[in-house]
Amino acid sequence: MQKIDLKEKYLKFFESKGHKIIPSAPLIPENDPSVLFNTAGMQPLVPYLMGQKHPLGTRLTDVQKCVRLTDLDGIGDKTHHTFFEMLGNWSLGDYFKKESISWSFEFLTKVLNIPVEKLAVTVFEGDETIPRDEESANVWKSLGIPEERISYLNKDNNFWIAGEVGPCGPDTEIFYWRSEDPVPVKHDPEDERWVEIWNNVFMQYEKQADGSVKELPHKNVDTGMGVERTVAILEGVDDNYLTSIWKDIIDKIIEMSNTTYEENPESIRIIADHIRTAVFIAADNSGIKPSNTDQGYILRRLIRRMIRHAKKIGIDLESGFERTLASMIIEKYKGYYQELSDNKEVVLDVLTNELNKFNKTLEKGLKEFEKIVAHLNGNILDKDLAFKLYDTYGFPLELTVELAQEKGIKVDEEGFNQKFKEHQEKSRAGSEQKFKGGLAGNGEMETKYHTATHLLNAALKQVIDKNIHQRGSNITAERMRFDFNCDHKLTDEEKQKVEDLVNSWIKEEIPVTVQEMNKQDAINSGAECMFIEKYPDVVTVYSIGNVSKELCGGPHVKNTKELGHFKIKKEEASSAGVRRIKAILE
Ligand code: ALA
Repeated sequence: MQKIDLKEKYLKFFESKGHKIIPSAPLIPENDPSVLFNTAGMQPLVPYLMGQKHPLGTRLTDVQKCVRLTDLDGIGDKTHHTFFEMLGNWSLGDYFKKESISWSFEFLTKVLNIPVEKLAVTVFEGDETIPRDEESANVWKSLGIPEERISYLNKDNNFWIAGEVGPCGPDTEIFYWRSEDPVPVKHDPEDERWVEIWNNVFMQYEKQADGSVKELPHKNVDTGMGVERTVAILEGVDDNYLTSIWKDIIDKIIEMSNTTYEENPESIRIIADHIRTAVFIAADNSGIKPSNTDQGYILRRLIRRMIRHAKKIGIDLESGFERTLASMIIEKYKGYYQELSDNKEVVLDVLTNELNKFNKTLEKGLKEFEKIVAHLNGNILDKDLAFKLYDTYGFPLELTVELAQEKGIKVDEEGFNQKFKEHQEKSRAGSEQKFKGGLAGNGEMETKYHTATHLLNAALKQVIDKNIHQRGSNITAERMRFDFNCDHKLTDEEKQKVEDLVNSWIKEEIPVTVQEMNKQDAINSGAECMFIEKYPDVVTVYSIGNVSKELCGGPHVKNTKELGHFKIKKEEASSAGVRRIKAILE
Protein backbone atom coordinates (compact mmCIF):
# COMPACT_ATOMS: atom_id res chain seq x y z
CA MET A 1 0.00 0.00 0.00
CA GLN A 2 1.27 3.42 -0.94
CA LYS A 3 1.17 5.89 1.93
CA ILE A 4 -0.46 9.15 0.88
CA ASP A 5 0.54 12.35 2.61
CA LEU A 6 -2.71 14.05 1.83
CA LYS A 7 -2.39 16.81 4.42
CA GLU A 8 0.94 18.02 3.16
CA LYS A 9 -0.13 17.90 -0.47
CA TYR A 10 -3.30 19.81 0.29
CA LEU A 11 -1.72 22.60 2.30
CA LYS A 12 1.10 23.04 -0.23
CA PHE A 13 -1.33 23.17 -3.10
CA PHE A 14 -3.42 25.91 -1.54
CA GLU A 15 -0.35 27.77 -0.43
CA SER A 16 0.67 27.84 -4.08
CA LYS A 17 -2.69 29.48 -4.78
CA GLY A 18 -1.98 32.35 -2.40
CA HIS A 19 -3.44 30.86 0.81
CA LYS A 20 -1.85 31.29 4.21
CA ILE A 21 -1.61 28.13 6.28
CA ILE A 22 -3.20 28.73 9.69
CA PRO A 23 -2.80 26.41 12.69
CA SER A 24 -5.64 24.17 13.74
CA ALA A 25 -7.76 25.86 16.41
CA PRO A 26 -8.04 24.04 19.75
CA LEU A 27 -10.42 21.10 19.82
CA ILE A 28 -12.30 22.73 22.65
CA PRO A 29 -13.66 26.08 21.46
CA GLU A 30 -12.18 28.98 23.37
CA ASN A 31 -15.01 31.46 23.26
CA ASP A 32 -18.11 29.45 22.70
CA PRO A 33 -19.48 27.63 25.72
CA SER A 34 -22.49 26.41 23.72
CA VAL A 35 -20.55 23.69 21.91
CA LEU A 36 -18.33 21.08 23.50
CA PHE A 37 -15.96 20.55 20.57
CA ASN A 38 -15.06 22.01 17.22
CA THR A 39 -17.00 20.03 14.66
CA ALA A 40 -15.91 21.65 11.38
CA GLY A 41 -12.99 23.60 9.97
CA MET A 42 -15.12 26.72 9.59
CA GLN A 43 -16.23 26.89 13.19
CA PRO A 44 -13.26 28.82 14.60
CA LEU A 45 -13.48 31.12 11.55
CA VAL A 46 -17.07 32.26 12.07
CA PRO A 47 -16.19 35.86 13.06
CA TYR A 48 -14.19 36.22 9.83
CA LEU A 49 -16.89 34.67 7.70
CA MET A 50 -19.22 37.22 9.26
CA GLY A 51 -17.00 40.10 8.17
CA GLN A 52 -14.24 40.57 10.73
CA LYS A 53 -10.83 41.13 9.15
CA HIS A 54 -8.45 38.16 9.49
CA PRO A 55 -4.87 39.16 10.31
CA LEU A 56 -3.48 36.76 7.69
CA GLY A 57 -5.60 38.00 4.84
CA THR A 58 -8.44 36.71 2.72
CA ARG A 59 -7.16 33.28 1.64
CA LEU A 60 -6.64 30.71 4.36
CA THR A 61 -6.08 26.98 4.53
CA ASP A 62 -5.67 24.51 7.37
CA VAL A 63 -6.17 21.07 8.79
CA GLN A 64 -8.60 21.29 11.70
CA LYS A 65 -9.10 18.83 14.55
CA CYS A 66 -12.75 17.95 14.92
CA VAL A 67 -14.85 15.81 17.22
CA ARG A 68 -18.37 14.81 16.24
CA LEU A 69 -20.39 12.83 18.72
CA THR A 70 -23.40 12.17 16.53
CA ASP A 71 -21.99 8.79 15.67
CA LEU A 72 -20.67 7.76 19.06
CA ASP A 73 -22.89 4.69 19.16
CA GLY A 74 -22.06 3.84 15.56
CA ILE A 75 -18.30 3.63 16.08
CA GLY A 76 -17.12 0.14 15.27
CA ASP A 77 -18.05 0.15 11.58
CA LYS A 78 -15.66 0.82 8.72
CA THR A 79 -16.18 4.53 8.20
CA HIS A 80 -17.06 6.34 11.41
CA HIS A 81 -14.78 8.20 13.81
CA THR A 82 -15.39 10.39 16.82
CA PHE A 83 -12.23 12.40 16.06
CA PHE A 84 -11.26 13.32 12.53
CA GLU A 85 -9.21 15.88 10.67
CA MET A 86 -10.81 18.23 8.18
CA LEU A 87 -8.86 19.92 5.43
CA GLY A 88 -10.23 23.27 4.37
CA ASN A 89 -9.54 26.33 2.27
CA TRP A 90 -11.32 29.63 2.70
CA SER A 91 -11.96 32.76 0.75
CA LEU A 92 -12.99 35.65 2.96
CA GLY A 93 -14.61 37.91 0.41
CA ASP A 94 -11.86 37.06 -2.08
CA TYR A 95 -12.38 34.41 -4.81
CA PHE A 96 -15.71 32.69 -5.32
CA LYS A 97 -17.22 29.81 -7.27
CA LYS A 98 -15.03 29.78 -10.37
CA GLU A 99 -11.67 29.64 -8.61
CA SER A 100 -12.89 27.43 -5.81
CA ILE A 101 -14.27 24.78 -8.14
CA SER A 102 -11.37 24.99 -10.57
CA TRP A 103 -8.82 24.53 -7.80
CA SER A 104 -10.71 21.60 -6.30
CA PHE A 105 -10.76 20.01 -9.72
CA GLU A 106 -7.07 20.69 -10.28
CA PHE A 107 -6.12 19.28 -6.88
CA LEU A 108 -8.15 16.11 -7.35
CA THR A 109 -7.15 15.38 -10.94
CA LYS A 110 -3.62 16.81 -11.17
CA VAL A 111 -2.21 16.43 -7.66
CA LEU A 112 -4.07 13.35 -6.45
CA ASN A 113 -4.37 11.98 -9.98
CA ILE A 114 -7.98 10.94 -9.63
CA PRO A 115 -9.40 10.18 -13.09
CA VAL A 116 -12.16 12.61 -14.15
CA GLU A 117 -14.25 9.58 -15.13
CA LYS A 118 -14.58 8.68 -11.43
CA LEU A 119 -15.98 12.04 -10.36
CA ALA A 120 -19.51 13.39 -10.05
CA VAL A 121 -20.85 16.54 -8.42
CA THR A 122 -24.03 17.93 -6.95
CA VAL A 123 -25.19 21.55 -6.96
CA PHE A 124 -28.08 23.43 -5.36
CA GLU A 125 -31.34 23.29 -7.34
CA GLY A 126 -32.56 26.61 -5.91
CA ASP A 127 -35.67 27.64 -3.99
CA GLU A 128 -37.93 30.68 -3.52
CA THR A 129 -35.13 32.85 -2.16
CA ILE A 130 -31.87 31.44 -3.53
CA PRO A 131 -31.39 30.84 -7.26
CA ARG A 132 -30.51 27.53 -8.89
CA ASP A 133 -26.74 27.26 -8.96
CA GLU A 134 -26.18 27.24 -12.73
CA GLU A 135 -23.00 29.20 -12.13
CA SER A 136 -21.31 26.28 -10.35
CA ALA A 137 -22.71 23.76 -12.81
CA ASN A 138 -21.26 25.78 -15.69
CA VAL A 139 -17.83 25.89 -14.10
CA TRP A 140 -17.94 22.12 -13.65
CA LYS A 141 -18.95 21.64 -17.28
CA SER A 142 -16.18 23.92 -18.50
CA LEU A 143 -13.70 21.70 -16.65
CA GLY A 144 -14.96 18.55 -18.32
CA ILE A 145 -17.57 17.15 -15.91
CA PRO A 146 -20.37 15.98 -18.21
CA GLU A 147 -23.99 17.05 -17.69
CA GLU A 148 -24.99 13.52 -16.60
CA ARG A 149 -22.54 13.67 -13.73
CA ILE A 150 -24.09 16.83 -12.29
CA SER A 151 -27.11 16.41 -10.01
CA TYR A 152 -29.23 19.32 -8.87
CA LEU A 153 -30.41 18.69 -5.31
CA ASN A 154 -32.50 20.50 -2.73
CA LYS A 155 -31.73 22.36 0.46
CA ASP A 156 -31.44 19.19 2.56
CA ASN A 157 -28.51 18.10 0.42
CA ASN A 158 -26.88 21.16 -1.05
CA PHE A 159 -27.16 23.91 1.50
CA TRP A 160 -24.73 23.99 4.42
CA ILE A 161 -24.96 25.51 7.88
CA ALA A 162 -23.18 24.51 11.09
CA GLY A 163 -26.30 24.55 13.24
CA GLU A 164 -29.48 26.55 13.23
CA VAL A 165 -28.15 30.07 12.77
CA GLY A 166 -25.03 31.72 11.38
CA PRO A 167 -23.08 31.86 8.12
CA CYS A 168 -24.38 29.49 5.46
CA GLY A 169 -24.94 29.01 1.76
CA PRO A 170 -25.46 26.65 -1.13
CA ASP A 171 -22.73 24.12 -1.70
CA THR A 172 -21.36 21.88 -4.37
CA GLU A 173 -20.31 18.41 -3.27
CA ILE A 174 -17.80 16.23 -5.05
CA PHE A 175 -18.25 12.46 -5.22
CA TYR A 176 -15.87 9.66 -6.09
CA TRP A 177 -16.83 6.27 -7.54
CA ARG A 178 -15.56 3.79 -4.96
CA SER A 179 -16.25 0.43 -6.51
CA GLU A 180 -14.75 -2.16 -8.79
CA ASP A 181 -17.97 -2.03 -10.83
CA PRO A 182 -17.89 -0.05 -14.07
CA VAL A 183 -18.64 3.64 -13.48
CA PRO A 184 -22.21 4.42 -14.57
CA VAL A 185 -22.60 7.19 -17.13
CA LYS A 186 -25.12 9.03 -15.00
CA HIS A 187 -24.64 10.10 -11.39
CA ASP A 188 -27.26 8.62 -9.08
CA PRO A 189 -27.26 10.41 -5.70
CA GLU A 190 -28.93 7.36 -4.13
CA ASP A 191 -26.15 4.99 -5.18
CA GLU A 192 -23.84 4.60 -2.18
CA ARG A 193 -20.92 3.55 -4.32
CA TRP A 194 -20.55 7.29 -4.98
CA VAL A 195 -18.89 8.66 -1.83
CA GLU A 196 -18.59 12.32 -0.98
CA ILE A 197 -15.02 13.56 -0.70
CA TRP A 198 -15.25 17.33 -0.67
CA ASN A 199 -17.76 19.99 0.11
CA ASN A 200 -17.40 23.54 -1.21
CA VAL A 201 -19.81 25.91 0.51
CA PHE A 202 -20.52 29.30 -1.01
CA MET A 203 -21.15 31.16 2.17
CA GLN A 204 -22.83 34.40 1.32
CA TYR A 205 -25.75 34.34 3.74
CA GLU A 206 -26.40 34.49 7.42
CA LYS A 207 -29.37 32.63 8.82
CA GLN A 208 -31.19 34.50 11.57
CA ALA A 209 -32.98 33.02 14.55
CA ASP A 210 -36.35 33.79 12.91
CA GLY A 211 -35.40 31.56 9.96
CA SER A 212 -34.81 34.34 7.45
CA VAL A 213 -31.51 34.73 5.59
CA LYS A 214 -29.68 37.96 4.91
CA GLU A 215 -26.65 38.64 2.75
CA LEU A 216 -23.28 38.68 4.50
CA PRO A 217 -21.06 41.71 3.97
CA HIS A 218 -19.05 39.66 1.51
CA LYS A 219 -19.10 36.36 -0.35
CA ASN A 220 -16.99 33.61 1.18
CA VAL A 221 -15.93 30.11 0.32
CA ASP A 222 -15.72 27.40 3.00
CA THR A 223 -14.59 23.93 2.03
CA GLY A 224 -14.19 20.69 3.92
CA MET A 225 -12.46 17.44 3.05
CA GLY A 226 -12.28 14.61 5.58
CA VAL A 227 -8.76 13.23 5.80
CA GLU A 228 -9.65 9.68 6.85
CA ARG A 229 -12.15 9.08 4.09
CA THR A 230 -10.07 10.62 1.31
CA VAL A 231 -6.98 8.69 2.31
CA ALA A 232 -9.02 5.46 2.27
CA ILE A 233 -10.15 6.25 -1.26
CA LEU A 234 -6.66 7.09 -2.44
CA GLU A 235 -5.21 3.97 -0.88
CA GLY A 236 -7.95 1.85 -2.40
CA VAL A 237 -9.54 0.38 0.74
CA ASP A 238 -13.17 0.51 1.79
CA ASP A 239 -12.38 0.35 5.51
CA ASN A 240 -10.90 3.61 6.86
CA TYR A 241 -9.17 1.65 9.62
CA LEU A 242 -7.11 -0.26 7.07
CA THR A 243 -5.33 2.82 5.72
CA SER A 244 -1.80 3.93 6.50
CA ILE A 245 -3.30 6.33 9.07
CA TRP A 246 -4.28 3.46 11.34
CA LYS A 247 -2.21 0.49 10.31
CA ASP A 248 0.43 0.54 13.06
CA ILE A 249 -2.17 1.21 15.77
CA ILE A 250 -4.45 -1.59 14.58
CA ASP A 251 -1.48 -3.99 14.29
CA LYS A 252 -0.40 -3.12 17.82
CA ILE A 253 -3.88 -3.68 19.25
CA ILE A 254 -4.04 -7.06 17.55
CA GLU A 255 -0.56 -7.98 18.79
CA MET A 256 -1.53 -7.19 22.40
CA SER A 257 -4.84 -9.05 22.19
CA ASN A 258 -5.81 -12.66 21.72
CA THR A 259 -7.84 -12.04 18.60
CA THR A 260 -7.67 -11.11 14.91
CA TYR A 261 -9.11 -8.26 12.88
CA GLU A 262 -11.45 -10.68 11.12
CA GLU A 263 -12.82 -12.02 14.40
CA ASN A 264 -13.33 -8.76 16.26
CA PRO A 265 -13.19 -5.79 13.90
CA GLU A 266 -15.65 -3.71 15.94
CA SER A 267 -13.78 -3.93 19.23
CA ILE A 268 -10.46 -3.22 17.54
CA ARG A 269 -11.87 -0.18 15.72
CA ILE A 270 -13.53 1.11 18.90
CA ILE A 271 -10.26 0.88 20.83
CA ALA A 272 -8.35 2.65 18.03
CA ASP A 273 -10.94 5.36 17.56
CA HIS A 274 -11.62 6.06 21.22
CA ILE A 275 -8.04 6.18 22.37
CA ARG A 276 -7.13 8.63 19.59
CA THR A 277 -10.03 10.92 20.52
CA ALA A 278 -9.21 10.62 24.23
CA VAL A 279 -5.59 11.56 23.53
CA PHE A 280 -6.64 14.70 21.66
CA ILE A 281 -9.18 15.78 24.28
CA ALA A 282 -6.79 15.20 27.17
CA ALA A 283 -4.02 17.04 25.29
CA ASP A 284 -6.11 20.17 24.77
CA ASN A 285 -4.56 23.09 26.62
CA SER A 286 -7.81 23.70 28.48
CA GLY A 287 -6.78 20.81 30.75
CA ILE A 288 -9.92 18.65 30.58
CA LYS A 289 -9.85 15.67 32.95
CA PRO A 290 -12.28 12.75 33.10
CA SER A 291 -15.32 13.82 35.12
CA ASN A 292 -19.08 13.49 35.15
CA THR A 293 -19.85 16.68 33.23
CA ASP A 294 -19.41 18.17 29.79
CA GLN A 295 -16.18 17.40 27.90
CA GLY A 296 -14.84 15.57 30.95
CA TYR A 297 -17.71 13.10 30.78
CA ILE A 298 -17.18 12.51 27.07
CA LEU A 299 -13.52 11.81 27.85
CA ARG A 300 -14.49 9.41 30.61
CA ARG A 301 -16.98 7.58 28.43
CA LEU A 302 -14.48 7.16 25.61
CA ILE A 303 -11.78 5.81 27.91
CA ARG A 304 -14.11 3.43 29.75
CA ARG A 305 -15.66 2.04 26.60
CA MET A 306 -12.20 1.56 25.15
CA ILE A 307 -11.10 -0.30 28.29
CA ARG A 308 -14.09 -2.59 28.24
CA HIS A 309 -13.36 -3.56 24.62
CA ALA A 310 -9.69 -4.05 25.43
CA LYS A 311 -10.71 -6.47 28.16
CA LYS A 312 -13.12 -8.20 25.81
CA ILE A 313 -10.38 -9.06 23.30
CA GLY A 314 -7.94 -10.22 25.92
CA ILE A 315 -5.63 -7.23 26.29
CA ASP A 316 -3.94 -7.23 29.70
CA LEU A 317 -5.32 -4.11 31.35
CA GLU A 318 -2.31 -3.86 33.61
CA SER A 319 0.25 -4.03 30.83
CA GLY A 320 0.38 -0.29 30.17
CA PHE A 321 -1.25 -0.84 26.77
CA GLU A 322 -3.00 2.54 26.99
CA ARG A 323 0.36 4.29 27.27
CA THR A 324 1.80 2.32 24.37
CA LEU A 325 -1.09 3.20 22.06
CA ALA A 326 -1.30 6.82 23.20
CA SER A 327 2.44 7.30 22.68
CA MET A 328 2.13 5.98 19.13
CA ILE A 329 -0.70 8.41 18.44
CA ILE A 330 1.23 11.32 19.89
CA GLU A 331 4.27 10.46 17.75
CA LYS A 332 2.15 10.21 14.65
CA TYR A 333 0.38 13.55 15.04
CA LYS A 334 2.75 15.76 16.98
CA GLY A 335 4.15 17.40 13.84
CA TYR A 336 0.81 19.05 13.22
CA TYR A 337 -0.37 19.48 16.80
CA GLN A 338 2.16 20.94 19.19
CA GLU A 339 0.02 20.37 22.28
CA LEU A 340 0.47 16.61 21.93
CA SER A 341 4.19 16.83 22.70
CA ASP A 342 3.73 19.62 25.24
CA ASN A 343 1.15 17.67 27.22
CA LYS A 344 2.32 14.12 26.60
CA GLU A 345 2.87 13.24 30.26
CA VAL A 346 -0.50 14.71 31.24
CA VAL A 347 -2.23 12.66 28.56
CA LEU A 348 -0.56 9.41 29.58
CA ASP A 349 -1.41 10.02 33.24
CA VAL A 350 -5.03 10.88 32.46
CA LEU A 351 -5.39 7.57 30.65
CA THR A 352 -3.63 5.48 33.28
CA ASN A 353 -5.45 7.13 36.20
CA GLU A 354 -8.82 6.63 34.59
CA LEU A 355 -7.92 3.06 33.73
CA ASN A 356 -6.88 2.33 37.30
CA LYS A 357 -10.06 3.86 38.62
CA PHE A 358 -12.32 1.95 36.27
CA ASN A 359 -10.38 -1.28 36.50
CA LYS A 360 -11.26 -1.47 40.20
CA THR A 361 -14.97 -1.66 39.50
CA LEU A 362 -15.12 -3.10 35.98
CA GLU A 363 -14.78 -6.74 36.99
CA LYS A 364 -17.32 -6.42 39.79
CA GLY A 365 -19.64 -4.43 37.55
CA LEU A 366 -19.51 -7.10 34.86
CA LYS A 367 -20.36 -9.76 37.47
CA GLU A 368 -23.22 -7.62 38.70
CA PHE A 369 -24.40 -7.25 35.13
CA GLU A 370 -24.40 -11.02 34.65
CA LYS A 371 -26.38 -11.40 37.86
CA ILE A 372 -28.90 -8.81 36.74
CA VAL A 373 -29.33 -10.54 33.40
CA ALA A 374 -29.78 -13.96 35.03
CA HIS A 375 -32.63 -12.63 37.15
CA LEU A 376 -34.26 -10.44 34.54
CA ASN A 377 -37.98 -10.84 33.89
CA GLY A 378 -38.49 -10.11 30.21
CA ASN A 379 -35.90 -8.38 28.11
CA ILE A 380 -35.83 -4.84 29.47
CA LEU A 381 -33.17 -3.71 31.90
CA ASP A 382 -34.89 -1.07 34.01
CA LYS A 383 -33.61 2.40 34.84
CA ASP A 384 -32.76 1.59 38.46
CA LEU A 385 -30.49 -1.27 37.49
CA ALA A 386 -28.84 0.76 34.73
CA PHE A 387 -28.37 3.57 37.20
CA LYS A 388 -26.85 1.24 39.77
CA LEU A 389 -24.31 0.12 37.18
CA TYR A 390 -23.48 3.77 36.56
CA ASP A 391 -23.45 4.95 40.13
CA THR A 392 -21.75 2.01 41.83
CA TYR A 393 -19.58 0.59 39.09
CA GLY A 394 -19.00 3.63 36.87
CA PHE A 395 -20.64 2.16 33.74
CA PRO A 396 -21.62 4.99 31.39
CA LEU A 397 -25.03 4.30 29.86
CA GLU A 398 -23.79 3.32 26.41
CA LEU A 399 -21.56 0.68 27.96
CA THR A 400 -24.56 -0.91 29.67
CA VAL A 401 -26.58 -0.59 26.47
CA GLU A 402 -23.81 -2.28 24.51
CA LEU A 403 -23.45 -5.13 27.01
CA ALA A 404 -27.22 -5.58 27.03
CA GLN A 405 -27.40 -5.55 23.25
CA GLU A 406 -24.95 -8.41 23.09
CA LYS A 407 -27.51 -10.41 25.07
CA GLY A 408 -30.52 -9.21 23.11
CA ILE A 409 -31.70 -7.03 26.00
CA LYS A 410 -32.95 -3.45 25.84
CA VAL A 411 -32.23 -0.75 28.41
CA ASP A 412 -34.76 1.84 29.57
CA GLU A 413 -32.54 4.67 28.34
CA GLU A 414 -35.12 7.38 28.75
CA GLY A 415 -35.73 6.38 32.37
CA PHE A 416 -32.01 6.32 32.98
CA ASN A 417 -31.53 9.79 31.52
CA GLN A 418 -34.28 11.12 33.75
CA LYS A 419 -32.65 9.61 36.82
CA PHE A 420 -29.24 10.81 35.70
CA LYS A 421 -30.57 14.33 35.37
CA GLU A 422 -32.17 14.26 38.83
CA HIS A 423 -28.95 12.95 40.26
CA GLN A 424 -26.92 15.70 38.58
CA GLU A 425 -29.27 18.38 39.85
CA LYS A 426 -29.02 17.02 43.34
CA SER A 427 -25.26 16.95 43.35
CA ARG A 428 -25.23 20.39 41.78
CA ALA A 429 -27.38 21.82 44.53
CA GLY A 430 -25.31 20.01 47.10
CA SER A 431 -21.92 21.38 46.27
CA GLU A 432 -20.18 24.35 44.77
CA GLN A 433 -17.37 21.97 44.06
CA LYS A 434 -18.80 20.80 40.77
CA PHE A 435 -18.39 24.24 39.29
CA LYS A 436 -14.83 24.49 40.36
CA GLY A 437 -13.99 21.01 39.18
CA GLY A 438 -16.19 20.93 36.07
CA LEU A 439 -14.53 22.97 33.39
CA ALA A 440 -10.90 23.83 33.81
CA GLY A 441 -10.22 27.55 33.84
CA ASN A 442 -13.66 28.26 35.17
CA GLY A 443 -13.06 29.74 38.57
CA GLU A 444 -15.57 31.63 40.65
CA MET A 445 -15.22 34.91 38.74
CA GLU A 446 -15.38 33.27 35.31
CA THR A 447 -18.52 31.48 36.40
CA LYS A 448 -20.10 34.78 37.40
CA TYR A 449 -19.14 36.33 34.07
CA HIS A 450 -20.73 33.41 32.24
CA THR A 451 -24.04 34.21 33.89
CA ALA A 452 -23.58 37.96 33.39
CA THR A 453 -23.06 37.25 29.68
CA HIS A 454 -26.51 35.66 29.47
CA LEU A 455 -28.06 38.65 31.26
CA LEU A 456 -26.32 41.11 28.96
CA ASN A 457 -27.50 39.19 25.90
CA ALA A 458 -31.07 39.32 27.21
CA ALA A 459 -30.86 43.01 28.14
CA LEU A 460 -29.58 43.98 24.67
CA LYS A 461 -32.56 42.19 23.14
CA GLN A 462 -34.98 44.05 25.37
CA VAL A 463 -33.42 47.50 25.14
CA ILE A 464 -32.09 47.59 21.57
CA ASP A 465 -33.47 44.91 19.28
CA LYS A 466 -34.96 41.47 19.80
CA ASN A 467 -32.88 40.18 16.86
CA ILE A 468 -29.61 40.73 18.64
CA HIS A 469 -27.59 37.55 19.15
CA GLN A 470 -24.22 36.62 20.51
CA ARG A 471 -21.46 36.66 17.92
CA GLY A 472 -18.60 35.88 20.23
CA SER A 473 -17.58 35.99 23.84
CA ASN A 474 -14.42 35.95 25.83
CA ILE A 475 -14.18 35.69 29.56
CA THR A 476 -11.30 36.10 31.97
CA ALA A 477 -11.32 36.39 35.75
CA GLU A 478 -11.08 40.18 35.31
CA ARG A 479 -13.70 41.03 32.71
CA MET A 480 -16.13 39.86 30.10
CA ARG A 481 -16.23 40.70 26.42
CA PHE A 482 -19.34 40.21 24.38
CA ASP A 483 -19.78 40.59 20.61
CA PHE A 484 -23.24 40.94 19.10
CA ASN A 485 -24.86 41.94 15.85
CA CYS A 486 -26.03 45.54 15.83
CA ASP A 487 -26.09 48.18 13.13
CA HIS A 488 -25.21 51.20 15.22
CA LYS A 489 -23.01 52.51 17.99
CA LEU A 490 -24.96 52.37 21.24
CA THR A 491 -25.97 55.74 22.61
CA ASP A 492 -25.12 56.66 26.20
CA GLU A 493 -28.77 56.30 27.01
CA GLU A 494 -28.94 52.80 25.54
CA LYS A 495 -25.84 51.74 27.44
CA GLN A 496 -27.28 53.07 30.66
CA LYS A 497 -30.57 51.27 30.11
CA VAL A 498 -28.81 47.98 29.39
CA GLU A 499 -26.65 48.34 32.48
CA ASP A 500 -29.63 49.23 34.66
CA LEU A 501 -31.66 46.32 33.38
CA VAL A 502 -28.88 43.82 34.12
CA ASN A 503 -28.46 45.28 37.61
CA SER A 504 -32.20 45.13 38.24
CA TRP A 505 -32.15 41.41 37.43
CA ILE A 506 -29.22 40.92 39.77
CA LYS A 507 -31.21 42.66 42.52
CA GLU A 508 -34.25 40.51 41.85
CA GLU A 509 -32.21 37.49 43.03
CA ILE A 510 -33.37 35.26 40.21
CA PRO A 511 -32.43 31.58 40.50
CA VAL A 512 -30.45 30.05 37.64
CA THR A 513 -31.68 26.61 36.64
CA VAL A 514 -30.26 24.00 34.35
CA GLN A 515 -32.17 21.49 32.32
CA GLU A 516 -30.99 18.71 30.09
CA MET A 517 -33.12 18.61 27.00
CA ASN A 518 -33.39 16.93 23.70
CA LYS A 519 -31.81 19.24 21.13
CA GLN A 520 -34.97 19.76 19.09
CA ASP A 521 -37.07 20.41 22.20
CA ALA A 522 -34.50 23.00 23.26
CA ILE A 523 -34.78 24.82 19.93
CA ASN A 524 -38.57 24.57 19.94
CA SER A 525 -38.73 26.01 23.42
CA GLY A 526 -36.97 29.10 22.09
CA ALA A 527 -33.63 28.61 23.80
CA GLU A 528 -30.99 30.99 22.52
CA CYS A 529 -27.85 29.53 21.01
CA MET A 530 -24.90 30.44 18.84
CA PHE A 531 -24.68 27.24 16.87
CA ILE A 532 -26.61 24.12 17.60
CA GLU A 533 -24.45 21.11 17.12
CA LYS A 534 -25.84 17.68 16.70
CA TYR A 535 -25.34 15.73 19.88
CA PRO A 536 -26.74 12.27 20.22
CA ASP A 537 -27.79 12.99 23.77
CA VAL A 538 -29.23 15.87 25.52
CA VAL A 539 -28.08 19.47 25.48
CA THR A 540 -27.91 21.63 28.59
CA VAL A 541 -30.12 24.68 28.73
CA TYR A 542 -29.60 27.35 31.39
CA SER A 543 -32.57 29.53 32.36
CA ILE A 544 -32.51 32.68 34.44
CA GLY A 545 -36.15 32.97 35.51
CA ASN A 546 -38.12 34.31 32.54
CA VAL A 547 -35.29 36.61 31.60
CA SER A 548 -33.05 34.28 29.64
CA LYS A 549 -32.90 30.78 28.29
CA GLU A 550 -29.75 29.68 26.52
CA LEU A 551 -28.15 26.55 25.31
CA CYS A 552 -24.84 26.52 27.10
CA GLY A 553 -22.24 24.25 28.58
CA GLY A 554 -22.08 26.33 31.77
CA PRO A 555 -20.95 26.70 34.48
CA HIS A 556 -23.19 29.32 36.04
CA VAL A 557 -23.93 30.75 39.44
CA LYS A 558 -27.04 29.51 41.23
CA ASN A 559 -28.64 32.88 41.72
CA THR A 560 -28.15 36.27 40.05
CA LYS A 561 -27.62 37.83 43.47
CA GLU A 562 -24.11 36.37 43.46
CA LEU A 563 -23.02 38.71 40.65
CA GLY A 564 -22.58 41.98 42.55
CA HIS A 565 -22.77 45.10 40.36
CA PHE A 566 -22.54 45.04 36.58
CA LYS A 567 -20.77 47.87 34.75
CA ILE A 568 -20.17 48.48 31.03
CA LYS A 569 -16.62 49.75 30.56
CA LYS A 570 -16.53 50.11 26.81
CA GLU A 571 -18.68 49.78 23.70
CA GLU A 572 -16.96 49.67 20.35
CA ALA A 573 -17.09 48.31 16.81
CA SER A 574 -15.77 44.78 16.43
CA SER A 575 -16.32 44.30 12.69
CA ALA A 576 -18.93 45.22 10.11
CA GLY A 577 -22.33 44.93 11.78
CA VAL A 578 -20.82 43.58 14.99
CA ARG A 579 -20.41 45.61 18.20
CA ARG A 580 -18.37 44.68 21.24
CA ILE A 581 -19.05 45.39 24.89
CA LYS A 582 -16.46 45.06 27.62
CA ALA A 583 -17.94 44.89 31.08
CA ILE A 584 -16.97 44.06 34.63
CA LEU A 585 -18.61 42.86 37.81
CA GLU A 586 -17.65 44.86 40.89
N1 ALA B 1 -18.24 23.40 6.52
C1 ALA B 1 -18.42 22.45 5.49
C2 ALA B 1 -18.52 21.04 6.03
O1 ALA B 1 -18.24 20.82 7.18
C3 ALA B 1 -17.36 22.56 4.47
O2 ALA B 1 -18.89 20.16 5.29
